[in-house]
Amino acid sequence: MKVDVLLGLQWGDEGKGKIVDVLTPKYDIIARFQGGPNAGHTIEFDGKKFVLHTIPSGIFNQKTINVIGNGVIIDPFVLKKEIARLNDGGIDVSENLLVSRKAHLILPTHRLLDAVSEHAKGKDKIGSTLKGISPAYTDKISRNGMRIGDLESDQFEKRYLQARERHLKTIRQFEVDYREMEFDGLRFPEYETAWLEALDALRKLKKVNSEYYLNNALNEGKSILAEGAQGTLLDIDFGSYPFVTSSNTITAGVCSGLGIAPSKVGKVYGIFKAYCTRVGSGPFPTELMDEDGNLLRDKGNEYGSTTGRPRRCGWLDLPALKYAIMLNGVTELMMMKADVLNSFNELKVAVNYRYNGNLSEEIPYESVTLDIDPVLETMTGWNKEVVASEAYDKLPAELKDYVSYIENKVGVPITIVSVGPDRTETIFKKA
Ligand code: GDP
Ligand code: IMO
Ligand code: MG
Repeated sequence: MKVDVLLGLQWGDEGKGKIVDVLTPKYDIIARFQGGPNAGHTIEFDGKKFVLHTIPSGIFNQKTINVIGNGVIIDPFVLKKEIARLNDGGIDVSENLLVSRKAHLILPTHRLLDAVSEHAKGKDKIGSTLKGISPAYTDKISRNGMRIGDLESDQFEKRYLQARERHLKTIRQFEVDYREMEFDGLRFPEYETAWLEALDALRKLKKVNSEYYLNNALNEGKSILAEGAQGTLLDIDFGSYPFVTSSNTITAGVCSGLGIAPSKVGKVYGIFKAYCTRVGSGPFPTELMDEDGNLLRDKGNEYGSTTGRPRRCGWLDLPALKYAIMLNGVTELMMMKADVLNSFNELKVAVNYRYNGNLSEEIPYESVTLDIDPVLETMTGWNKEVVASEAYDKLPAELKDYVSYIENKVGVPITIVSVGPDRTETIFKKA
């Protein structure tokens, strides 16, 4: 058995949560391999809507085991709220949620550090979700982090206080009154108290040595799907640095974030929107600042699942999509939010870039500082509602043309066309 992978090919929010939930019945185990509560994965079914930040999107199927892998960073305060929301919706996680002992903790002072560091950057700010992602991964890499397994140690409190003091030393240099800063509506001292209380919720969860658990499961013939967070263009190495997140969001991250050997990676499902969005700062060659951009935002309800910020919107970017397919070894594509394009007469797609007076499909090293002009091709829109219950063949001809056009340009088949947020609004197409 091999581990299949599902990840985002753009700047996040492609609809990963929805499709993981759709595919879950086919898998014994769903495992998150990187990122933290900067993620917001939305799942809708039976008139209910859930947004998950840390818990894998397979949690709605009681038969599936959900693993939070070693590559993930966990904020107990966020996780506790997530579990409570699921419990309110009648979903019990006590049996089918497992947490890696090697996953790192996001401490309250990591959130403080994120906030003061973003503030200090002024107009150059990253547009971080302010969930403490960069400081927590920094501590992991600098070998100062605290892990879930440390909760079981009698040294936990001592180590917590040491880390807290180390962080506060840095924070004091910013000359802000951190006690007045608010996190999720709580001033820092109350937030810290709530965070410490939330550790109990984390202590109650089942802990595993997830690399052994997952490899043993594979050897026993179990099927595993790895669920990505963020998107390829936010990858720490290959995204538009420094306007990226702090983890490897690509397929390679599955190996380090779950302890899976490269030879054990199977299918790679790449998810992309039929257009593009980006939340936060950084280059976005096909961004639309006009009525079309507003229409995409309105129809697509493009406001962040984690922060509520309006998402920047633009046309589909094929050079960027090809780059993501190359980095991830994508074997199947899934096109999301096709319905958002229902009311367009014309659609545009970037097929090339112009910069420094030349044409190139390559994203330049200087993408952050260079003016990149997308070369656009125009397609006829379908300009009608699409019916989710229809078979793929019954879809409007222009929509099917859009799909074949993309497949021909990138050389990978599209096997799902998503036409609405609900689980059922998913059209399967033969490769
Ligand atoms: P993720 O982070 O990749 O899981 O994506 P998000 O949940 O942050 O953002 C995707 C948003 O689009 C959510 O609000 C989904 O409910 C919604 N969505 C997913 N697929 C579709 C679709 O095909 N059509 C429409 N209109 N909305 C969709
Ligand atoms: P999902 O999993 C979209 C963006 C932030 C910011 C940059 C760095 O829901 O697709 P960070 O908080 O990681 O330090 O922010 O990355 N970002 C996301 N954008 N979807 C996400 O996750 C994101 N997670 C982080 O907006 O630009
Ligand atoms: Mg999201």
